[in-house]
Amino acid sequence: MRSFRLRLLLGSVLWTLALLAVQRASTERGLKSGTLPRRVLYFGSMSYELIDVTTESDWREYHSLRRRVLWEQRGLTNYDETHADEYKAAHHPLLLKLFGRAIGTARLDDFGNNTGAVRLVAIERDLQRQGHGRVLSEYIENYARGLGIKTLYLNAVPEAIGYYEKLGWKPYVWDETELVGIASACRQMSKQLSRC
Ligand SMILES: CC(C)(COP(=O)(O)OP(=O)(O)OC[C@H]1O[C@@H](n2cnc3c(N)ncnc32)[C@H](O)[C@@H]1OP(=O)(O)O)[C@@H](O)C(=O)NCCC(=O)NCCS
Repeated sequence: MRSFRLRLLLGSVLWTLALLAVQRASTERGLKSGTLPRRVLYFGSMSYELIDVTTESDWREYHSLRRRVLWEQRGLTNYDETHADEYKAAHHPLLLKLFGRAIGTARLDDFGNNTGAVRLVAIERDLQRQGHGRVLSEYIENYARGLGIKTLYLNAVPEAIGYYEKLGWKPYVWDETELVGIASACRQMSKQLSRC
């Protein structure tokens, strides 16, 4: 009886592992061919990584993704890779990778008083609305906690307000002087970070 139970347990473990392997393979295939299903189950969060942008190729991917998603796809042309804000010590340019492919970006600016701002959040257009933005947000919040940040701020474009509301952000005017130029139509929001 005992050995039967053991075999049953081993069988279920092997079956689960096989299912996860199939899931992962189909996600990788979908990602490569651009036919990723709307909702996919990942191998936990192990296939994702949030990295600091450091190497030349990271910088290329970071700027290229932002230029396309946040500027060109909105009809804007004045993206500036050399903007001084990108290279300040307290600013953290970040890339979200899935199976090694850069699919999202954001910058986290540490204000140094337990607060900070999330800037220029973007997910690759053909991968939007599939849960990657939620993952990016969770990773950024963890990163921020690691810096001692307790409250995050951002300027949300009108089209993204619903996304931020889903993730627990609340309307909050934190610095009106930021609402100029391309940010003039943005709504300011904040989020208290829970301890994890
Ligand atoms: C906004 C953006 C980062 C969201 O990333 P995403 O991968 O599409 O978001 P997710 O699929 O993880 O969505 C998370 C939740 O927010 C919701 N959501 C996503 N985008 C939304 C939107 N524009 N309006 C309302 N809700 C939205 C999703 O339905 C989901 O809710 P659910 O889990 O209850 O179904 C992404 O769509 C994007 O890059 N947009 C273009 C650039 C942009 O607007 N950036 C924000 C600058 S402030």
